[in-house]
Amino acid sequence: MKVLVTGGAGFIGSAVVRLAIARGHQVVNLDALTYAACLENVAEAAQSPNYAFVHADIRDRAALDAAFAEHAPDAVMHLAAESHVDRSIDGPGAFIETNVNGTYHMLEAARAYWAAQGKPDTFRFHHISTDEVYGTLGATGLFTEETPYAPNSPYSASKAASDHLVRAWAETYGLPVVLTNCSNNYGPYHFPEKLIPVVILNALAGKDLPIYGDGSNVRDWLYVEDHADALLLVVEKGALGRSYNIGGENERSNLQLVKALCAILDVKRPKETGSYSDQITFVTDRPGHDARYAIDPTRIRTELGWQPSVTVEEGLEKTVDWYLANEDWWRALQARAGVGERLGTA
Ligand SMILES: NC(=O)c1ccc[n+]([C@@H]2O[C@H](COP(=O)([O-])OP(=O)(O)OC[C@H]3O[C@@H](n4cnc5c(N)ncnc54)[C@H](O)[C@@H]3O)[C@@H](O)[C@H]2O)c1
Repeated sequence: MKVLVTGGAGFIGSAVVRLAIARGHQVVNLDALTYAACLENVAEAAQSPNYAFVHADIRDRAALDAAFAEHAPDAVMHLAAESHVDRSIDGPGAFIETNVNGTYHMLEAARAYWAAQGKPDTFRFHHISTDEVYGTLGATGLFTEETPYAPNSPYSASKAASDHLVRAWAETYGLPVVLTNCSNNYGPYHFPEKLIPVVILNALAGKDLPIYGDGSNVRDWLYVEDHADALLLVVEKGALGRSYNIGGENERSNLQLVKALCAILDVKRPKETGSYSDQITFVTDRPGHDARYAIDPTRIRTELGWQPSVTVEEGLEKTVDWYLANEDWWRALQARAGVGERLGTA
């Protein structure tokens, strides 16, 4: 399969690129290289003759048309997006521009290319989205593919809008689409403004470990390489027009998660005195902070046979090991604008 991956220099996109190349697929990585991108994430995959890079913005229709014409992909995996909720609170415009308008341009470029090919139903436009489109859960219940959309942040609203566009392009134009909505990812190459890398890196630097509100917000954590595996399964075997929820069934409150990371670090890089958990500090909550997300992954498990390869305990340990071994990678990214600052308190 030749797959056009958008956002392949980001956190999840790069995991998809690495796995697709390892499995012998041809990959065209199309990325605008925003502040969140790092081509080092795919440095090894880029050595492969099966890899090509296109430096382009998904809002640039002419550049998208040129990429489709030159590379003639069998499938698109669309991951390019603005992805940080806190940044979406401070500057929602970029999220509308990229996540909504950019997805519109991707759909139109894909539709024109697909029509020019004679509308093969083997073509796939796979839209990668988030469970945040469903809004928030109370103490019980799970998000299924039938849960009504109720996004609460500018980020999740922009992703919900893009999901609706993809659905409409399938219904109206017959574009062969599949959609996935995934829970919170973590693992290697996670950009150092997101919770897990912030906690690991602040802990090592002797800084406060900031927890929003009282730390009771619950997320369902999935190791990024398991997400990439699920995504390749869906693009290859997913039923036309179907959406699949992807989650690890690993619910943790933010406070539990941070304490688990501290416990791993206490063993792997012990402090002279005390525990890293002594550095935990509670800070003002994020406005509109969703209380709980939890995915029911029954559909992808039963229909496609997917299951995660690691537990959250194993995944967190692998993640800590990766950050301890890759200081050059994260130090360079910590110098980028806004990283390390408290954002999204508006
Ligand atoms: N991180 C998560 O936990 C999570 C969970 C579920 C779904 N998702 C979705 O997965 C996708 C990838 O998330 P991520 O965490 O890897 O994001 P990321 O911020 O790490 O990477 C995004 C990538 O997209 C590129 N990009 C941004 N704007 C672009 C544009 N206008 N044109 C071309 N490229 C552009 C960036 O340069 C970057 O390489 C997103 O669509 C996100 O909504 C993320």
